[in-house]
Amino acid sequence: MKKLNCLFFLLNLLYLNTIQAQIYRPSAATERRANDLLAKMTLDEKIGQLTLYTTDWGSTGPTIREGYKNDIRSGACGNLFNSHTVGFVRELQRVAVEETRLKIPLLFGFDVIHGYKTIFPIPLGEAASWDLEAIEKSARVASAEASAAGLNWTFAPMVDISRDPRWGRVMEGAGEDPCLGSRIAEARVRGIQGKKIGDTDAMLACVKHFAGYGAPIAGRDYNTVDMSERYFREFYLPPYEAAVRAGAATVMTSFNDYDGVPATGNNYLLTDILRKEWGFRGFVVTDYTSINEMVNHGVTADDKAAGELALNAGVDMDMQGAVYQRFLKKSVQEGKVKMADVDEAVRRVLRLKFELGLFEDPYKFCDETRQTTTLLSPEHRAAARDVSRKSIVLLKNENNVLPLNKSQKIALIGPLADNKSELIGNWNGAGNANDCVSLQEGIANLRLANLAFARGCEVEGTDKSGFAEALRIAQNADVVVVAVGEKAMMSGEAASRADITLPGVQEELVLELVKAGKPVIVILMNGRPLAIPKIAESAAAILETWWLGTEAGNAIADVLFGDYNPSGKLPMTFPRSVGQVPIFYNEKSTGRPFDPNSKWTSKYIDEENSPLYPFGFGLSYTTFSYGEPKVDKAVFKKGENLQITVSLKNSGSRAGEEVVQLYVRDLVASATRPVKELKGFQKIMLKAGESREVKFTLTEQDFSFYRRDMTFGAEPGEFDIMVGGNSVDLKKVRVRMAD
Ligand code: GLC
Repeated sequence: MKKLNCLFFLLNLLYLNTIQAQIYRPSAATERRANDLLAKMTLDEKIGQLTLYTTDWGSTGPTIREGYKNDIRSGACGNLFNSHTVGFVRELQRVAVEETRLKIPLLFGFDVIHGYKTIFPIPLGEAASWDLEAIEKSARVASAEASAAGLNWTFAPMVDISRDPRWGRVMEGAGEDPCLGSRIAEARVRGIQGKKIGDTDAMLACVKHFAGYGAPIAGRDYNTVDMSERYFREFYLPPYEAAVRAGAATVMTSFNDYDGVPATGNNYLLTDILRKEWGFRGFVVTDYTSINEMVNHGVTADDKAAGELALNAGVDMDMQGAVYQRFLKKSVQEGKVKMADVDEAVRRVLRLKFELGLFEDPYKFCDETRQTTTLLSPEHRAAARDVSRKSIVLLKNENNVLPLNKSQKIALIGPLADNKSELIGNWNGAGNANDCVSLQEGIANLRLANLAFARGCEVEGTDKSGFAEALRIAQNADVVVVAVGEKAMMSGEAASRADITLPGVQEELVLELVKAGKPVIVILMNGRPLAIPKIAESAAAILETWWLGTEAGNAIADVLFGDYNPSGKLPMTFPRSVGQVPIFYNEKSTGRPFDPNSKWTSKYIDEENSPLYPFGFGLSYTTFSYGEPKVDKAVFKKGENLQITVSLKNSGSRAGEEVVQLYVRDLVASATRPVKELKGFQKIMLKAGESREVKFTLTEQDFSFYRRDMTFGAEPGEFDIMVGGNSVDLKKVRVRMAD
């Protein structure tokens, strides 16, 4: 018996070495290595590679599993999330590559949404910069830090278009527009994945949430999404496609249904569009237990059927649901799922693990020194400060009360003026609020002679006992700076609000301060557009600062005192009231477009149609003037490009950046079209008095849309080409596309 065991041990050793020889040889092509390994795997081991569990380091959903280490050891779990830092990753990776039969390394995923340790502005805030280079840089730094902490996969970028500020997850996206959203999605994928997958300073990106998650009925998270395919393809799909075509390695399904079928079981989305139309070759992971939730959706009777629906629709990896782990083997044995489809799903996962280089060195992302020197480095903080400044939007500046000068007596007031914990926003990675620079610290860093502080009130609650002290210091000051807004957890996942005004008694505090008679500068810190008409009316100046992260206080101080001239533009419309929602710039004309002189037109009897602040809006400390847009031909043939030139002048007294926006309207078409659509933008820096000829090229794609028969293409006819510094104040020229 002993001899037999010894022989078996030697044979097993030989067999494993053969495996090592075969699949660990980096020279072999990835496809060959993936297939070699696949051929050696049992069905249980295959299912393990299609399973993703969180550890107890943090949960981002309703359930958490015990015993994940045993799941790794048994091969039942081949991927983890919410587990990071070199020490913890090394410990878990060791179990996978030393204590399992085939030694397949783990993927380590995490929600690095706007920074890992150095926290950048929330994505909606970064989108307000309209600065693709800055946005890419932000994602690059986040990826460099996270990969230095053991991670190799981030669940970002979130590219869900949304026109509804009640929905809390608007903070994670790039706002309401498919053109801006697509360019930003591409920039974030580039930043996350770096020069190439496999570099130790880069991670796999994960485009989410596929698809249409940003349009839940009533703005209530996880609610039903129901829209026409035309709407879906024109307004909601483009950023996912842009991210996939930019090379995103993975895609995450969304919780919602689309056209009556949950995205996690939607063959049309996951196979027809994602793989057949767009040629996506990476793998699809579900959102947190979204397979299981198809039972709640009422499209499957139990988890096992949900797993079959998901795998057959194109889902490769089950996040946290343990559905594939519990039932997929039986589904294969019953013929309800084909082994070939399981193999293809596993192949997609293995390909990326090979491309990451994890088989050559499972610990390549586990370098303690790199972790220490990379996280929160001075360069990263400087990058965060730069992106943060560029994300600030100047919404009002009456009588040029801004920028302030450092000799003024300043009363700094408000519940968010000295706050750090809210500054890192929601989805704040491994960020630590203590690393943040508060607004009070940012201003104090400027060594002002006269700076008084009083909180005045809290973000929530009805307590006004702090008003008196706030009013007292306001009376003794030249100017009042008041920081108000939301708590970070009032936006993000599962954080929709039916009321999008300022919480608590903050608005009352601001209005009381205005009565004190000194100019009041309002600093907004929030995760969504807010309905603040009274503040818009009475404040002297308003800066929208979102949640700017680690360098928030320094960035806001830079803008307050003019060390940086604000250049941000709104990526999402600000309504006057929640009753206008959904409200967006690219609306359609309707058969009775609003006419103030007629009762019988599309309007409210108790509210204006116009937003408080429109998409693309943002002021500067200087002024810009636009010439009339010029086209290289008034009539152009279908298929010909159209060149547009517009002269831009910095007509003010200081250098500044302007986001020149180009919109197009298709005046007559076989399907109703928006009154304008963003088709291009350029962020231009001009010195005082400097002029520049800004050029755009429009291609046939820019004039194309989903026609009445749902084919995509352009139709001859007249178009208005519009140019300006926001979606309302535009200059236009009419052109005609000939047949
Ligand atoms: C959450 C979110 C998703 C996130 C995932 C993992 O439920 O919907 O955006 O990436 O779970 O944390």
